[in-house]
Formats: sequence, structure tokens, C-alpha cells
Amino acid sequence: MSRNYYIAGNWKMHKTRAEAAELAKALAAQLKGGKHKYLVAPSFTSLEAVGAVVKGTNILLGAQNCAPEEQGAHTGEVSVLQLKDLGVQAVILGHSERRHIYKEDDALINKKVKLVLQHGLEVILCVGELLEEREAGRAEAVCETQTVKGLEGVSAADLGRVTIAYEPVWAIGTGKTATPEDADAIHAYIRKVIGKLYGPAAAEQMIIQYGGSVKPENAAQLMAKENIDGALVGGAALKAETFVPIAQFS
Ligand code: PGA
Repeated sequence: MSRNYYIAGNWKMHKTRAEAAELAKALAAQLKGGKHKYLVAPSFTSLEAVGAVVKGTNILLGAQNCAPEEQGAHTGEVSVLQLKDLGVQAVILGHSERRHIYKEDDALINKKVKLVLQHGLEVILCVGELLEEREAGRAEAVCETQTVKGLEGVSAADLGRVTIAYEPVWAIGTGKTATPEDADAIHAYIRKVIGKLYGPAAAEQMIIQYGGSVKPENAAQLMAKENIDGALVGGAALKAETFVPIAQFS
């Protein structure tokens, strides 16, 4: 298997510019020479400050969302062109907080995915089921739909810049982690879906991160699973003391 591990920190709506830059400095120092792929996604307001710190390091600069249009009358939105101007290299799209709190649907997310890819950036596309969907036996179907619709119209060439993050909504910020076995089963299923859409080689290469209460204590067991290729970390990404051990799991 030739997939590289990819560990990303989603800082959500936390930290001032100074706090964000301080964390970025600690991460840049401690992850220097680290063997995996790393990304941090601060709030829009801290992108410039964090970008100045991580520039030239092995940590990519990510944004947590962007608008579905390049520019225009979209009060309160941030465009991919503006993100690119700040040095942003990847955008997290379809996070469950965007889907469920801000009612983003698959069609909107797909529009954003295509726009971000068109501008040469990477995408982390988040998928994942709600607790009631899991209990109704629909976890695979929900993830399949979100994957298929999220990637509609994405070329095989552009797929190389897409990472999928499986984040069961009931595990996000709750302290409940999917068992490594349960997570791996969904990852394997998503990989099968990618295979149906793009063929076996693309499926084999697709990086699928797990997200949902990843901590230093559970990172290694999750990463040990065949289909888990990294993590999208929320709460534990807010401190170097908890993010670094995840990023350097062994
Ligand atoms: P969590 O968040 O690690 O705090 O559960 C993960 C995420 O929402 O990406």
C-alpha cells in the first residue's frame, strides 16, 4: 500500500490571530521532519497570520469552507480566490457542522468542491452519518450518497487532489469514537464507492481520514486499520500537546 498518512487539524471557530500563530509556531517546530502529511485549518481571520508561520514548512494551510462562487454579491462569504491569495492550499468542504447547522446540501457542497479544484487547490470532502441514520442501518448508504454527489463532475485527474474524511456525526466533539473496526468498515465501503466511480487504482490511492474525537490515546489504533489513512482532528488539534502526539502516532 503506497498511501501516505495525512493528519489535519480543524481549529473551527477558535483562537485569535495571536493564539493561532502561537499554536502554528509550536506545531512547525515540533512536526519539523515529521513523516506524514500535515495541515492546519484556522478560522479565516487567522489564515494570514498562520500562513506566515507555516510557509516553507511541512504543514499545509487549509481553510474550513468557502463560497460556491468566485466573486459577487455574497454578503458574509469568502471566495476561493481570496483564499488562494492568502496562500491557502486546501479547503475542508461538507463538514457536518456546515451540513447540519448551516444546512449545506450535497449540491451546494459539490459546487464548492468543483470550484476549489478548478482553482488548483486541494479539497478535504467530509462525509458521515447521524446517530439515527447509523441506528437505522443507513451509515453506508448516507456516506455513499454524500461521496457520489459530492464528487459529481470531478474528473479522474482532479480526484488526485481530493481527500475524503469520514466523520460520523455522533462522534464529533462528543468524546465517542467509532471503534477502529467500525470506522475501517465504512472506510472500506467508501473506497469501494470510489472504485465504482473511478476504478480500482483511484480507490487504492484515495486518502480517507477518520474524524470524530481522535485523541493521542486512540490515534494509533485507528491508523493501524488498513483503510484509515489519517485523521481530521477537532478538539485535540487546539493544543500542540494533544495534536503533536496524534501527528506522530506510532
Ligand atoms: P473532534 O472534531 O475531533 O473535536 O471530534 C472533528 C471534526 O469535526 O473535524
